[in-house]
Amino acid sequence: MTAPAATALAPGLTEELRAAVGEAHLLTDPSIVASYETDWTGRFHGRASCVVRPADTAQVAAVMTAAARAKATVCVQGGNTGLVGGSIPVDGAVLLSTARLTVLEPVEVAAGQVTAGAGVTLAALQRHVRAAGYDFGVDFAARDSATLGGMAATNAGGERVLRYGTTRAQILGIEAVLADGSVISRLAGLPKDNTGYDVASLLAGSEGTLGIITRLRLRLAPLLTERAVALVAVDGIAGALTLLQTARNRLPTLEAAELFLADGLALVREKTGLPAPFAAEHPAYLVLECAGRTDPTDDLLAALDACDADVLLDATVATDTRGRHTLWAYRESHTEAINAAGVPVKLDVAVPLTALGELVAALPTTIAEAAPQARLILFGHINEGNLHVNILNATDRAEAVTDAVLHLVAAHRGSISAEHGVGRAKSRWLHLSRSPQEIAMMRAIRQGLDPDALLNPRVLLDAPPPTDRGPAGANSA
Ligand code: FAD
Ligand code: MLT
Ligand code: ZN
Repeated sequence: MTAPAATALAPGLTEELRAAVGEAHLLTDPSIVASYETDWTGRFHGRASCVVRPADTAQVAAVMTAAARAKATVCVQGGNTGLVGGSIPVDGAVLLSTARLTVLEPVEVAAGQVTAGAGVTLAALQRHVRAAGYDFGVDFAARDSATLGGMAATNAGGERVLRYGTTRAQILGIEAVLADGSVISRLAGLPKDNTGYDVASLLAGSEGTLGIITRLRLRLAPLLTERAVALVAVDGIAGALTLLQTARNRLPTLEAAELFLADGLALVREKTGLPAPFAAEHPAYLVLECAGRTDPTDDLLAALDACDADVLLDATVATDTRGRHTLWAYRESHTEAINAAGVPVKLDVAVPLTALGELVAALPTTIAEAAPQARLILFGHINEGNLHVNILNATDRAEAVTDAVLHLVAAHRGSISAEHGVGRAKSRWLHLSRSPQEIAMMRAIRQGLDPDALLNPRVLLDAPPPTDRGPAGANSA
């Protein structure tokens, strides 16, 4: 039998929400609401009182106006691919899904810009702009589900940050609904506009705590169709960093440099059935991708040739679409392969490149001390010193293991969140990356825009310590 939804809404609010979004888009059936209540990893859960699915900015504003009047909590969900527990409701909240905010305006070819709804998926945007001879600067494996609003809210990074920067760098304008229902809209896309605070930059990375993003004005990248991908085996982090430096110095077309290790490869092969990429096993692997208007293969091969044999242990290069996708699959399948092995504690950190080797060396002992049964899988975006620290068999020790890893990262002058955001999973540790003054400033901005903390409570700021729940390690939001 399905459990009832956590809290019934005040009758007046129910009517107002129904009037705002229409009968069909106010969801209250617990068995339907349930599909919005668990995150992608299966670790975080929350009980919504209902789900609303507004169709446009005006409907989002009507929902927020009604919620503000009733002082009802509203949690925002895009594609629900977020990995820090921020996309699921706190118990009793109205869950606002952006799934219907899918307007995609024609590409403005002269400006190289497009305006898109917050609920448009990354893959839908890619198809749309590629048909017009452009591309989008951010890409990652969750492209079929992750939405532009979620990407902006988390300032998502991904595989092309090396060349194009994070999502924030692609945003030229934004439209959003604030907690009181008012709308800010700045979508002209002016590349130069020094008229005070940069609202789009402020909302990027705010994780739904300052407003609900409804539309975005995006900068587009050139469509580069000539591509070559290399999978390279190296002896460890030192070798990977040497190879990265050679690739960056010699390859102006370099677009991606991604790292994984031997145990991650083994897990991916177990899940996907992919063959071993090389005759021998190696400690670490890099995926390098070059893209240009002319074929970059010769340049890529020359750069690999320039590496010493004790650095580059083996390599394979693909230029055809299928071959390139196969090499990428070794890297992009990590997240799903890890989830298939159990509910992970996922940490996403960054340290200066000079500290990366030391961090990787210290992690196994630090984690084993906090969670003796833990299994560690590391991979990431090496150019940004961004390591994805995935810890299996540790959900019952999630708090201890998170505490140990994030303190280790802070001791290496690192960030507790490189690209996934802070969410509810890491808000307790924000002080390890931000000064008291910075946190006070963030709180003041939040308080000014949302004095009753109605939007995404306990995300990023104002969180009590996470409590681990039950043997499955599920944390209630
Ligand atoms: P959700 O998960 O729905 O929400 C994420 C956060 O944004 C929540 O706090 C939510 O409340 C808020 N939010 C969502 N929409 C809005 C809106 N319109 N307005 C205000 N707030 C909003 N992330 C990376 O950075 N780089 C990667 O390489 C990467 N790879 C991934 C690969 C896989 C297989 C998976 C499952 C995830 C990956 N992620 C990656 C994490 C995730 O995809 C990103 O964080 C993405 O930006 C989340 O988008 P979403 O639409 O799913 O947002
Ligand atoms: C990735 O780079 O693949 C993602 O950020 C997802 C993850 O960390 O699992
Ligand atoms: Zn990543």
